[in-house]
Parts: sequence; C-alpha cells; structure tokens
Amino acid sequence: MRPIFTLPLAALLLTGTACTTMPMDTVTNVGEPNMVAPILTSADAVDSSSYAQPQVARVTHVALDLALDFAGKSLGGTAVLDIAARDEAEAIVLDSNGLRIDLVTDGAGNALDYEIGAMVAEGGKGAPLTIRMGDARQVRIAYRAAENAEALQWLSPAQTAGGEHPYLFSQGQAILNRTWIPTQDSPGIRQTWEARITAPKPLTVVMSGIAQGAPEDLGNGRRAFRFEMDKSVPPYLIAIAAGDIEFRALSDRTGVWSEPSMLDAAAAEVADTERMVVAAEKLYGPYRWGRYDMIVLPPAFPYGGMENPVMTFLTPTFIAGDKSLNGLVAHELAHSWSGNLVTNAVWADSWLNEGVTSYFENRILEELYGKERAEQEAALAFANIEDTLAEVGNAPGTALYQPENVDPVGSAIIYDKGAYFLRTVESIVGRERFDAWLESWFDRHAFEPATSAMMLADIRANLVRGDAALEERLMLDEWVYGPGLPGNVARPAADAFAEVDAAVAAYPASGPVASARWASWNSAERQRYLRGLPQEIDAAGLARMDRSLGLTQGTNNEELFLWLNLALANRYDAVVPRTETFLANVGRRKFVAPLFATLMGEGEWGQPIARRIYARTRPSYHAVTTGTVDRIVNGS
Ligand code: BES
Ligand code: ZN
Repeated sequence: MRPIFTLPLAALLLTGTACTTMPMDTVTNVGEPNMVAPILTSADAVDSSSYAQPQVARVTHVALDLALDFAGKSLGGTAVLDIAARDEAEAIVLDSNGLRIDLVTDGAGNALDYEIGAMVAEGGKGAPLTIRMGDARQVRIAYRAAENAEALQWLSPAQTAGGEHPYLFSQGQAILNRTWIPTQDSPGIRQTWEARITAPKPLTVVMSGIAQGAPEDLGNGRRAFRFEMDKSVPPYLIAIAAGDIEFRALSDRTGVWSEPSMLDAAAAEVADTERMVVAAEKLYGPYRWGRYDMIVLPPAFPYGGMENPVMTFLTPTFIAGDKSLNGLVAHELAHSWSGNLVTNAVWADSWLNEGVTSYFENRILEELYGKERAEQEAALAFANIEDTLAEVGNAPGTALYQPENVDPVGSAIIYDKGAYFLRTVESIVGRERFDAWLESWFDRHAFEPATSAMMLADIRANLVRGDAALEERLMLDEWVYGPGLPGNVARPAADAFAEVDAAVAAYPASGPVASARWASWNSAERQRYLRGLPQEIDAAGLARMDRSLGLTQGTNNEELFLWLNLALANRYDAVVPRTETFLANVGRRKFVAPLFATLMGEGEWGQPIARRIYARTRPSYHAVTTGTVDRIVNGS
C-alpha cells in the first residue's frame, strides 16, 4: 500500500460539502435504463450497511477484467470504475471486504493513494476503501478476492453432478459482493457494468449480463468471456457462475443452463417460463431486460433462487419432475419488476423487493394454473404468517419496515405479510384499479431505488387520491410500520384446502390419509398436510405413515424436508440416514438450517447427531448457510 495521505480523509471528502445543490443532479436522468440513476437523499434512504458517500462521489459504471483461478480458489484482476462526483470531491469511498488491493491508478495510469479503513467483521460490512482520486473521475483497481470470499463458492468436482470439473458461483445479496468487487455495494447506488472473465477450458462462464459474442480462445488453455449490463442495476445483482454447463433454449428469449446431465430435467421443470413471462408482462408491463435465462446450479447453492438479471440462479432442489415447485421461477421472474426495476433503497425496505414479488408471483401462478392453485399457495403463505405470529407475538420485527435495530423474525413477514398487504389493497380497491396502479408504480420508478415511505406516498397520490374513507379502510401505516396483522387483512379462502384439512383433523383417530388420496394430491396439498399434522407423533405412528405414504423415499424436496423435520422432532431414528444424505447433498439454507435446529432441540438424542453430521457436511456449504448453521450447532 502506498503511504497514507497527509490530510485526514474526512477533510478531503467533506471539502465544500456545505453547498446544498449537487452538480450530480445534472447527470441524473429519471427512469432511463442506462442513465445515471438518482441517489435518494432522505434520511430513510441512507444505507447503514455501506460506507459509500454517494452524495459526494458515486460509481456509475464498473468494468471488470478478472481471471478465475480454480486451483487457488480465488479470482483477481482489475476493476475500472467510472465516477460521478461533486466538482470539489477529491476522494471516493467504496465498500470492500477481504479484498487484497495491489494498485490503484487513475484512467491515465497515475498511481493514486488509497486507504483501507477499520474492518467491521460483524455482519459483513467490511471496511471502507477510500481512494484519493483528486480530479480523476475514473479509477482502476488491481486486486484479488480472498480465498474465503463470502460471495463466492468454489466447488470441487465431487460437489457437481458431473463429478469431473470444478464449479464457481456467486451470491451477492445482500452485502456479499464487496468480497469480490470493489465498488459501492449499496442497493440505492445503481451502476451499469461490463466484464471480461477468463476461465480454464472447458468451463463456460455466465453472468447476470448479456454475453457479448462467442468466447475467445486465448491459446493457453483458457477462454475469455465478455458480458455487458447496459441498464443500471444495484450492485448486489452482479453475479457469476462457471462450470461444465450447457444451454437449452426454451423460447426466443428464454433458456436454461445446467450441467449436461441435468439439462433435460431442468428444461422440463422450467418449461412454462415463456408463458410466465407473457403472463407477467400482461399483468404489469413489458419485460425490460431483453433475455430471461436461468441457470440450475449444483445443490450447494444456499438459496432457492436469486433474481440475477437476465440470468436467474436456481437451486436444483426445486426439480420435482412435475413442475409443482415452479412457483420459484415465477418468483424470480417477478423480481424483474419488483426488485430489479424498482429496488429497495436500503435493506430495511426489503419487503418492497420480496413482499411485492411474492404477491406478483401469486398472480403469475393464477394466470398460468388458475385460481385454485394460487389460493392454495396464498393459504400456505397465510399459515406461515400465523405460525410466526403465534411464535413471536407482535414483536417489532413483525412490521414490514425492518430498521437495523430490530430483530428480524424471518421470511413470513417481508415475503408473506408483504404479499398480503398488496392483496389487501387489491381486495379493497378492486383488481382493475390495483393492477393499473402497480404497473404505474413500476413504470414511475423504473431503474430507480424506492423506500417504504415513497410506496405509501405513491399509493396515496395515485390510488387514494384524497378519498378519506378509502384511506381509513386501507390502514397503510399499520401495515408497513405496525406489528402483527392489521384487521383488514384479505384472508385466503377458508376452503382452499378443505379436503386436506379434513384429513388432518381425522388424524390420528383415522390414521394417516389413504395412500391413494395422498397420491391424488398436489404438492401444495401434501405440504399443507405435513404442516398440519400434530407436532407429536410416536414412532409407531410415524412408521405407519411412512409405510403408507413413502415419505422417506420421496423426491419432492419440500415434502421430504417437512417429513424429515417432523420425524426428527419426534426423535425417530429411522429417518437419520436419509437426513444425513440430504444434509450432505443439499446446501440450501431454508432446508439445512431448520433440520439442524430441530436436531439441536432434541437434547442428548439429537445434538450428537447434529454435531456429527455437521462436522462432515460443513465444508460443502456456502458461507450463507454456514453463517446460520454455525450459530445453531456451535452456538457461535
Ligand atoms: N432475493 C431472494 C433471495 C435472497 C433474499 C438472497 C435475501 C439474499 C438475501 C430470492 O428472490 C428469494 O426470495 N428466494 C426464495 C424463493 C422464493 C420462492 C421465496 C428462496 O431462496 O427460498
Ligand atoms: Zn425473492
């Protein structure tokens, strides 16, 4: 590192900040995909999880040139950042976490001073990287990501389906991308980007941008892949995957990537994607990103899906053979509007991404598969809210708006309560008016960040329009800032699962549901059944149920997970081997964490099992999953 500046950084940054108008305003352009998106300046839009000071200097474009090193499990190269800044700004603050910075220059190659500030390990905020750019408005950073960069997972060949080649994927949301990209890692600071990535043959690289031409053979056993995202995106949406993968087109604008041995199954599972895009466009306006491709990753992927633009990342665990879990695709696709087009300015507003998307997902499912299936999914979501509220009461974390100082209570709030908020508004104002408003919301704020307050103000300006009675009926502030479920909630149809609920009520008196009836149920119905059963069932009861329904042998992972969790909570030894293979092969946190938590809750029976399995499976998990499971199993 070069010697540190003579002037304190704070002084450099703040030079002239007393003036109130920002010259940057002249280079922002509202609603255009590739223009410099505005930075929100209200107090509720200040991102406490970023060190950036975008009012002073902000990144507008990132150009990456990186080499993937599978042997060293790391990547490195250069990032060239374009900057928009106040005339008097002499420094820019970036986010970084574990990056090794080798050299920083301006666009002309002159070395620039920089400093990495104090590291905040807790929560992954990392350390500020402050570059003294002087008059320069472009900087070039030569750097290397740490071997254990949390965004990246480097898989050994054994962790892939093919077993022959290594694999890499990234996960940026929420604040992990600062472990491999030195930029301002804040959802309110949109950036366009481009990348050149080199990888050893025969691996193929994909990113959340449009591939530019065919890969270039470098003659040294490596190939270079180029990508471009010409629409400004929040930087958590920059993503990469590389492996022995193949592509299958599904329509002119949609397709799927996966390892060759999985491609048939993957393509069959997502066969309805084009229809989903058509339905989504019909609902809320044009799909603005060009292509919609997906990649089905190895099972170590820690989430169900991630809405990386033009390249949704998917877990293989949603492949059930019958499209029954393809709500996941509808969800990630819907993020192309809620999340990627209109983006939560700060993570406290996550419900703007996830709640709106969950509502939108349900509407896509209704378009494709009808009201009944959509109502069932909605009823499952409602039960999820009720279960969570029964557990935590009206804790502050049950408000949609989730400021930092409040303990989050899980996905039931930002996903399901968020969706129920929109469902409730829809039921009150009517579908036609609601849909027109939601489409216009996406349109008004396209390619921009938004806050909860902006959403409420927008509803008031465009839907309520001074109608005091309507305002009162909507209970907008209660929904967003208040705990629990407001009294006006539009409940799911009570009979969405009439037959299943009757079968649940008949247990244990009439034994488990008949296997023929079980076979006739769809996955939502089976999940409802498994969730509805009494929490305590003895070994004989579990054995009988498994014999007749074949649960341990099941191949639908949502159902298998519910069954294993129920059986483990009852210390049922017979499912331990299946649990162990499941935990050894699946890294999806939503499944892995609760199974370990259940085992850890079962005292001297479960804790040794959990510790033994985790010692074996931990190395195969992504940092997102180990971060949670470490706390569960090791109490750290
Ligand atoms: N954007 C999320 C995944 C995410 C959320 C990553 C928060 C990091 C932080 C994604 O769209 C999502 O919600 N995935 C769900 C699936 C969905 C069907 C509810 C998942 O992974 O389970
Ligand atoms: Zn989501």
